[in-house]
Amino acid sequence: MVEPLNIALAGLGTVGTGVVRLIETNAELIARRAGRPIRIAAVSARDRTKDRGVDLSSYVWEDDPAALASRSDVDVVVELVGGSDGPALTLARGAIGQGKGLVTANKAMIAHHGLELAAAAEKAGVALKFEAAVAGGIPVIKGLSEGAAANAIERVYGILNGTCNYILSTMEDTGADFGDVLADAQRLGYAEADPTFDIEGVDAAHKLAILAAIAFGVRLRFDAVETMGVSRVKAADIEQAHALGYVIRLIGTAEIDRSEGDMRLYQRVRPHLVPVGHPLAHVDGPTNAVVAEGNFMGRLLFQGAGAGDGPTASAVVADIIDIARGEKGAAFSMSAGELEAMEPASTGHRVGRSYIRFTVPDRPGVLAEITAAMRDANVSIESLIQKGDPDDDGEVIIAMVTHEVPESAVNAALHILEGSDSLTVQPLVMQIIGE
Ligand SMILES: NC(=O)c1ccc[n+]([C@@H]2O[C@H](COP(=O)([O-])OP(=O)(O)OC[C@H]3O[C@@H](n4cnc5c(N)ncnc54)[C@H](OP(=O)(O)O)[C@@H]3O)[C@@H](O)[C@H]2O)c1
Repeated sequence: MVEPLNIALAGLGTVGTGVVRLIETNAELIARRAGRPIRIAAVSARDRTKDRGVDLSSYVWEDDPAALASRSDVDVVVELVGGSDGPALTLARGAIGQGKGLVTANKAMIAHHGLELAAAAEKAGVALKFEAAVAGGIPVIKGLSEGAAANAIERVYGILNGTCNYILSTMEDTGADFGDVLADAQRLGYAEADPTFDIEGVDAAHKLAILAAIAFGVRLRFDAVETMGVSRVKAADIEQAHALGYVIRLIGTAEIDRSEGDMRLYQRVRPHLVPVGHPLAHVDGPTNAVVAEGNFMGRLLFQGAGAGDGPTASAVVADIIDIARGEKGAAFSMSAGELEAMEPASTGHRVGRSYIRFTVPDRPGVLAEITAAMRDANVSIESLIQKGDPDDDGEVIIAMVTHEVPESAVNAALHILEGSDSLTVQPLVMQIIGE
């Protein structure tokens, strides 16, 4: 008789209950694929009395998730509590320290402590797996670390946050403003009660830093991701972008930058203008998509559900099946000691077209002041639209698209305009990506 793989689940929320349902529903198939049954031995969450829509009566309950790490009847701990530190990190360290495999969906914890946990897992000879931490149900970590393992990957980019993508594509479809769509998204469960991490780009930055480490074989540098979210995007920007043949998407990009002599790590999360013909322009709603470019494989596109109980549980259980098969692998696709330390790239020299939105008082001279600043900073303007009638505050919008210029030139122009009473709101700059 084959011994089951015994797991403990910490966290029985959206993902945790999804994992319970999946393991119960597909038990037989999973046992055949894994070569042994997967058995839930123990579970933990905050509130034992909560009705979670799944029957937990046959599992041992621990009030303290940390207690799961020391149970002798547990081989693998599955951390689905969340948060970069606190109980999740205590449990992760405890589980690895006790020689147990660790599976987690926690991008915040991996982005902040992934290197430490990977080194500890290697030392203890146990698996650390986090497929669900990046792009939910899309097997992008497996795709990069296994399927693309033979390639030098120099660029990975994509739509990494379903909440932002839902908001932007809904603004596009309905013409509604950011705040209204966010409120709807919260009501429909596409956005958290506290949406800050999502809408300010932090969640996408967590995922991007993890992807970059795996794709390039570099030490994870979440602190070096330049991050801007979508909360400043207005319906007017979406309208202008549309008129110019673009949609707006929050794109995370990581790249090896050689322009400063040595190899540097470029990581940025920002709203971009994406041409309507680009594959990422057709990624709508809460969907995620990741593009990776390798020197032999060419361009790969991964697309699918970036969140939700089913897709995320699917990725978590795939990791558990790997461990049941005896596949430990290296957390970041190579030994933690092999990961290269790479300094962050500066961005001023990057050349491209930018969209700049100015919010200005409706009076003479303002446009002249803006265009003079552009001229003085050597930013040549491709198009400029002043948008219709002033709003209730007497303000109008000027949307400008630059020719290909270094980002430093755009920054210099905005620096000239700093403090000017012609600008009532800080200008919004979004890069335009090519076809
Ligand atoms: N939701 C998604 O679609 C998704 C997608 C990809 C990755 N993830 C990641 O998966 C993880 C879990 O997300 P989720 O959406 O399932 O979260 P969730 O619905 O908020 O569930 C969190 C669970 O953790 C438990 N918990 C929270 N604090 C605890 C504490 N101090 N001690 C013990 N248990 C505690 C909660 O217990 P109670 O239920 O008793 O309150 C709850 O069961 C996070 O790292 C998240 O980033 C989620």
